[in-house]
Amino acid sequence: MSSYPLQRFRRLRYNPLVRDLVRETLISKNDLIYPLFVVPGENVKKEVRSMPGVFNLSMDKLVEECKEVASLGIPAVILFGIPEHKDETGSDAYDDNGIIQRAIRAIKKEVKNLLVITDVCLCEYTSHGHCGVLRGDEILNDETVDLLVKEAVSHAGAGADVIAPSDMMDGRIGAIRRGLDEAGFKNIPVLSYAVKYASGFYGPFRDAADSTPAFGDRRSHQMDIANTREALKEALSDLEEGADILMVKPAGAYLDIIHQVKQMTNVPLAAYQVSGEYAMIKAAGANGWIDEERVMIEAFTAIKRAGADMVLTYFAKDIARYIDKH
Ligand code: PBG
Repeated sequence: MSSYPLQRFRRLRYNPLVRDLVRETLISKNDLIYPLFVVPGENVKKEVRSMPGVFNLSMDKLVEECKEVASLGIPAVILFGIPEHKDETGSDAYDDNGIIQRAIRAIKKEVKNLLVITDVCLCEYTSHGHCGVLRGDEILNDETVDLLVKEAVSHAGAGADVIAPSDMMDGRIGAIRRGLDEAGFKNIPVLSYAVKYASGFYGPFRDAADSTPAFGDRRSHQMDIANTREALKEALSDLEEGADILMVKPAGAYLDIIHQVKQMTNVPLAAYQVSGEYAMIKAAGANGWIDEERVMIEAFTAIKRAGADMVLTYFAKDIARYIDKH
C-alpha cells in the first residue's frame, strides 16, 4: 500500500457531499424500537425522575403516545407494565386481564402501523422485584420458566406482535417457542434478550419500572460484565432454541460483544441502549457539557456500526425527528 503523499485521506473529507458519498453506516427510522412504561390509572403522564423525557403512562396516554410514535415513522414499541398489585409470583404478568394484556388490546384497537413487542419477565410484577419465583434467596429456574411461558402466551393472545423474554433463565427460549406453537402462535417471533449483562446501567429503568430487587441482585442469572465467550454461547444456544432475533444489552459499553455476536450468527441482531446510557447523555446535555443531539446520533451510529440491525432506545422519537430534519 502506497502512502502519503500519494494517498491523502482528506480528499474524501473536504465537503459534506463527498463525505455522504463514502459514508459506510447509514441510520434509518426503520431500525428504531421505542420502550414505553404503562401504569395503572387514567390521565397519568409522570416523568421518570432519572430519565428526563421518559414517562410512566396510563393506558389512555399510552395509546396517544403510540399514535405519535407511529406518525413519526417508528416501526415498533416495546412495552413494560407496572401492575396495580404485585405478588410473590408476579401473577399480573400472566393474567389475561393484566396491565400489559389490556395495553396491547387498547393499542391494537386504536393504532395502525405499529409493531407491539412485549418484554417478558417477572421483575416488574413480583413483590420482591426478582425476575422469578423464589425459594428462600434462590431464584428457581424451571418454575420461573413455566410462568414465563404463560406470560408469553398470554401476551400473544392479547395481540402482541413479537415476544421479548428479558429474564435470562436457562431454557426459556425453547420453552416459550414450544408454548407459543402449542397455543397456535407459530408465526409470532421471539426476540431474545440473549446476551444480557448484570449491569449498573439499568439503574434508571428500575425507577421507571419500580423493579429494584428488595434484596440481593441479578448476578445469579444475568451475565458477568467481563465475559465474552459466554456471550457467544448464550447467543448460539438461544438460536438453537428457536430465537428469531437476538439482543445484546446494554449497547454502548458492549460494542465488542455486538460485533462478535453479529459475526458468529446469521439472524437479525438488536441492541438495547439502556436507561443509564440515556440518562448519562441527557444529564451531560442538560448541563451543557456535551451537545446532546450530536452525542445521541453518534452513540446510535456507533451501535449500528458495531453490527446491530435495530436499536431499542429512549431517544427513538428524537432520532426520528433528527432523521426527518436531515
Ligand atoms: C427486565 C428488564 C430490565 C431492563 C429491561 N428489561 C431491568 C433489569 O434487568 O434489571 C432494563 C432496561 C433499561 O435499563 O433501560 N424486565
